[in-house]
Amino acid sequence: MNRSLIVNKSDDTDDSVNTTLTDELHLGEGDLLIDVTYSSLNYKDAMALRGDKGVARTLPLVPGIDAVGTVVESDSERFNTGDEVVINGAGLGEFRHGGYATQQRIPSESTVALPAAFSARQAAAIGTAGFTAALSVDALREQGVEPGDGDILVTGATGGVGSVAIHLLKRLGYTAAASTGRVEEHGDYLRELGAAEVIDRAELSEQGKPLQKSRWAGVVDAVGSHTLVNALAQTRWGGTVTACGLAQGPDLQGTVLPFILRGVKLVGINSVDAPLELRERAWATLAEHLDTDVLEAMTSTVTLADVAAAGADLMAGRSHGRTVVDVRG
Ligand SMILES: NC(=O)c1ccc[n+]([C@@H]2O[C@H](COP(=O)([O-])OP(=O)(O)OC[C@H]3O[C@@H](n4cnc5c(N)ncnc54)[C@H](OP(=O)(O)O)[C@@H]3O)[C@@H](O)[C@H]2O)c1
Repeated sequence: MNRSLIVNKSDDTDDSVNTTLTDELHLGEGDLLIDVTYSSLNYKDAMALRGDKGVARTLPLVPGIDAVGTVVESDSERFNTGDEVVINGAGLGEFRHGGYATQQRIPSESTVALPAAFSARQAAAIGTAGFTAALSVDALREQGVEPGDGDILVTGATGGVGSVAIHLLKRLGYTAAASTGRVEEHGDYLRELGAAEVIDRAELSEQGKPLQKSRWAGVVDAVGSHTLVNALAQTRWGGTVTACGLAQGPDLQGTVLPFILRGVKLVGINSVDAPLELRERAWATLAEHLDTDVLEAMTSTVTLADVAAAGADLMAGRSHGRTVVDVRG
């Protein structure tokens, strides 16, 4: 039976929305039609589920920025019927219908083959958050940050991006420090993922001095705002800071001093529009280095009927790790 979860306006007079599970299909555009098996719950999905206009650019909308499934129709030379594929971002669940449906149309230029290392469910568990963690870690490596250079700071550590980043860094031989607002509750979880040190995010979340004691050879930041500015101010000469998120805020009220006095590099990470070459490199990094037992341990599963409530928990800071959406469950 076909099913889609739809976010739509409750009425025309205000911005309130409702989510409805329907047996109709709402197909977007794209040269592949896939039977979706799994999607996932990311920060952006939680925003779309509550109708946030920054993500839900059009209504009605099928959310779900990730989709994993099997090709049933292909107008692309890269894929045949029966191929198992993964897509992250590319506007799904933002300005085109996404993965919270049993079938969806997707663009092949942003689609990769499901790596042999992962089941469909595991690829969804990785999802945009894990893919973004891999893009961030790949960016540090591309900028020449080596395991022996010094510690790597990961902010928003208990979240999806942070959790996968800590694990990948550990597996690649780096020493990671995890910054979290939940040291007591999740300190052991972060150490089990591979964090050598767990620090309270309060150390980074207030406005600080423009240049601070050098601590980090690299940073994976998912938080933005004062946290990112302080991370830049604590990065040592020639280090690289990647910025992918805005969990604290989108502002960046810093100075140029880390750049002009320490040669620090700030690299932006955009998973949505990443070209195919970067997508394939990030999925190859994940396939080579991610331990699927560790992935399973950080992952919980919800159905389409439960995903709106899970999204509210995520926005309220009550979740950690990754959440798979079983669209057929
Ligand atoms: N650029 C891209 O392509 C891209 C891709 C994926 C995600 N993102 C962005 O990256 C961010 C993280 O995504 P995610 O999927 O990992 O989300 P998530 O699972 O909700 O994790 C976010 C984490 O940020 C921390 N946090 C929350 N509120 C905070 C605050 N006010 N100040 C400081 N830290 C705070 C929390 O970690 P602790 O409790 O451990 O402190 C939380 O677990 C989001 O902003 C998301 O939109 C961007």
